[in-house]
Amino acid sequence: MLRFDHGDKKILLARRGEKIFATDVMCTHEEADLSTGFLSEQGVTCPLHLSVFNLDSGVPQNPPAEESVATYNVKIDAGAIYVEI
Ligand code: FES
Repeated sequence: MLRFDHGDKKILLARRGEKIFATDVMCTHEEADLSTGFLSEQGVTCPLHLSVFNLDSGVPQNPPAEESVATYNVKIDAGAIYVEI
């Protein structure tokens, strides 16, 4: 996983297998940076209170987070990663 900032957008890029996902980097529960969390088959786990966010939908799988993180379309072309924000 890695984080990049583009203007006021703070984006998480996460690679699982050959697929790359993009979501907002900040947890919707409190101010925690998901890029410092943990990646698993279930999604990305927040490092602060351990809510897991699905990487396809952004939906939290367990409390305390209740709101989804935004997700973004990703395109890979000639080795470059493009995120539609
Ligand atoms: S800050 Fe992420 S679950 Fe609480």
